[in-house]
Amino acid sequence: MDILIGFPEGEALAGRLASRLGLGLRMVALHRFPDGESLVRLEGAPERAVIVRSLDRPNDKLVELQFLAGALRERGCRELTLVAPYLAYMRQDIEFRPGEVVSQRIMGRWLGGLFDRIVTVEPHLHRTHDLTAVFPGTRSAALSAGPLLGRWAREQGADAGWVILGPDEESEHLVHGAAQAAGAQALVGLKVRRGDHDVSVGLPAGTDLTGRTVLFVDDIVSSGGTLIDAAKVARAHGATRFLAATAHAVFPMERMAAFQAAGIETVVSADGIDHPTNAIGLTGLIADCLATL
Ligand code: R5P
Repeated sequence: MDILIGFPEGEALAGRLASRLGLGLRMVALHRFPDGESLVRLEGAPERAVIVRSLDRPNDKLVELQFLAGALRERGCRELTLVAPYLAYMRQDIEFRPGEVVSQRIMGRWLGGLFDRIVTVEPHLHRTHDLTAVFPGTRSAALSAGPLLGRWAREQGADAGWVILGPDEESEHLVHGAAQAAGAQALVGLKVRRGDHDVSVGLPAGTDLTGRTVLFVDDIVSSGGTLIDAAKVARAHGATRFLAATAHAVFPMERMAAFQAAGIETVVSADGIDHPTNAIGLTGLIADCLATL
């Protein structure tokens, strides 16, 4: 029997995907011992299973995934699929300073060794442009949320007068996908990061945003520093209205006050990570991909 397996923090998305795919949903039960170790419990011995888990705040989640995948293989599972809408540790793809671990490569071997298929959304890839280079020998897909973010913008009234702004060249595909779906103008900035909480976003010389509505798009909003700086620079270039849509929201809701203080009307996110700002569904995108992968 084929089943879809969800984890407690991602029950909503797992439920939607299971019903879309026509698979029975089983939820993993987790127990955390006082010493920090995890007990993972799931009954059954499926022949094929799709495990759904976003890997934000990933360290414990990875170990639990390893335990679950290992147990399912022991019970005879022949095909294991991981749907990780947010995939961790993709940024560190080279040794920036001597001795640094290239986590992307190690993760590739780790997850590639556990799963037959891996599906993710907007993985944070820098120099590696293709997810198959991270998971050689594993069927994998990196889905873009751009068109979905753009469709959301369209529903909010986006037209050719709107500008879809991404912070840096890594956001280029997201910006163009969203701009096309929204029927809006695409604009890609140039980001300089000086530290985890110290970033600045620049715009091409001569950019004129006078009176424009700007929808800021990014793969992830984490501290929100990038978003706030982008709003500041867009305002300095003449923009008058600001919104934001992201594939992955991990910021604490207390940050909303800072976003509003920066003039950002609303921040919405896709639902790969459960978050109060979820407004854009990924179920159809992921289900369609699984049907052909
Ligand atoms: C960075 O390269 C990413 O695309 C995001 O722009 C960044 O991670 C957002 O982080 P924060 O919200 O902390 O500025």
